[in-house]
Amino acid sequence: MAQAFDVVVIGSGPAGYIAAIRAAQLGLKSACVEEWANPAGEPALGGTCLNVGCIPSKALLESSEQYEHALTGLQDHGITVGGAKIDLAKMVGRKDAIVAKMTKGIETLFRKNKIAWLKGHGRFAGRGAGGWQIEVSGGGAAETVEAKAVIIATGSKARHLPGVPVDQVRVCDNVGALAFTAVPERLGVIGAGVIGLELGSVWRRLGSKVTILEALPGFLAAADESVAKEAWRIFTKEQGLDIRLGVAIGKVELGSKSVTIAYRQDGKEATLECDRLIVSVGRVPNTDGLGAEAVGLKIDARGFIEVDDQCRTNLPSVFAIGDVVRGPMLAHKGEEEGVMAAELIAGQKAHVNLETIPWVIYTSPEIAWVGRTEQQLKADGVPYRVGQFPFSINGRALGHGDTHGFVKMLAHGHTDEILGVHVINTHASELIAEAVVAMEFRAAAEDIARIVHAHPSLSEVMHEAALAVDKRALNM
Ligand code: FAD
Ligand code: NAI
Repeated sequence: MAQAFDVVVIGSGPAGYIAAIRAAQLGLKSACVEEWANPAGEPALGGTCLNVGCIPSKALLESSEQYEHALTGLQDHGITVGGAKIDLAKMVGRKDAIVAKMTKGIETLFRKNKIAWLKGHGRFAGRGAGGWQIEVSGGGAAETVEAKAVIIATGSKARHLPGVPVDQVRVCDNVGALAFTAVPERLGVIGAGVIGLELGSVWRRLGSKVTILEALPGFLAAADESVAKEAWRIFTKEQGLDIRLGVAIGKVELGSKSVTIAYRQDGKEATLECDRLIVSVGRVPNTDGLGAEAVGLKIDARGFIEVDDQCRTNLPSVFAIGDVVRGPMLAHKGEEEGVMAAELIAGQKAHVNLETIPWVIYTSPEIAWVGRTEQQLKADGVPYRVGQFPFSINGRALGHGDTHGFVKMLAHGHTDEILGVHVINTHASELIAEAVVAMEFRAAAEDIARIVHAHPSLSEVMHEAALAVDKRALNM
């Protein structure tokens, strides 16, 4: 007889594995189907985020920052370090060890919560008296299990460009770009988005000459304009990233040792020759072989599974969460949708507020924001006031020796409710949490202005930005 579950989750990325854990916590008999294999060919949990996304990229970011710090960041502190060298194999090995620890950690959590890990590819095979039938195929013979409810968390994969074959050696997406065996002398990147900037920065710090080709005429269109402007200045002028905007990519040719990219910019033809090329032009939802047609699961024109505010699909008791549905493609957004879906299946009330999802770009300095940008407020005709305060006059930032950036707070012009907070600073990923909490509780700028912030700390800049909304910053 087929195994039967209350909930079957398809995909074990951050959205799926969290959904499975929450469902199990609520007493539901849960299983998670996962087809991922690591480079050694062993089945692995964790999806894009843990295997080839958030976790490995942040490990390399940290290593490359430590290296650059040893080279140039210590002199001002009166410390001289001679002979700093890179052992790339060790650096990549450290990254791989972190990935292994994290993915094995999910296995432990699955055992602890009695979640069955069904190894292989999952697809809808139909619906019977016992609920949805999910066929799991892979290694051995196919097995069909029954589920009263299904959560689809199949994630996304890198978008590739027509005529640009990705071999993960010379031309890479995120998978190959996290596993270089040598530091390329000349690195080309197509797409100045989050991956292009994060991974471009990693290899620049390790010694590559990095050139990024971006289709849009503007830089970091999703960020607040003043943050994008400051980031542009730091990345191009101070750090030497060569970012070329408004580019139309032409023919890409692979030589035995190099890649040549023909492109057009400002009406002129040009070429870029590099040793390795990263293609980071966005990601596409993953519904390959899911059996969507067989059961009539609705998918929109862009390939995303259609869902309502609570991640319900058009099929009864079938939810879809994470990168495979609308909204930002971010791990923490998928995780919260996973919690919500499991709680709804268990009969509880749950919701996720997409308006307060924080964004972080892990460059150096980091860029983080929550809520709306100044240009969005202008376009929507919302009255607003702005408070901005720089890190350059904050005692803790001076002590760190890193005074880049500022906090910019946008509050409603009449009610003072915080509508957006934008941070550019080395520790922006941590600082933004205060703004997320404030916005979730619909705080006013005045609320942050009246909260005591520790001294000396970077959080004082958030405090001063809130005071600046009312034109009463104290230290400026
Ligand atoms: P995924 O993580 O993509 O997982 C989906 C899983 O489903 C995969 O394991 C896949 O094998 C499995 N699967 C798919 N179809 C089937 C099937 N039919 N049967 C069985 N299994 C199936 N986000 C952040 O918030 N912070 C970051 O710092 C960050 N850094 C990133 C860096 C890089 C280089 C990349 C590429 C992405 C990064 N992201 C980051 C985005 C983040 O990785 C994704 O938003 C997140 O992984 C989405 O989670 P998910 O669970 O929806 O899907
Ligand atoms: P992205 O959407 O961030 O950026 C893609 C860039 O490529 C855009 O600027 C776009 O204009 C450009 N582009 C598209 N087509 C092009 C073309 N033909 N020629 C030149 N440029 C072109 O996508 P990216 O960087 O691939 O990352 C995918 C997603 O993964 C992100 O949107 C984000 O959701 C997630 N991610 C999140 C991270 C984080 O939270 N720190 C880190 C990395 C990825």
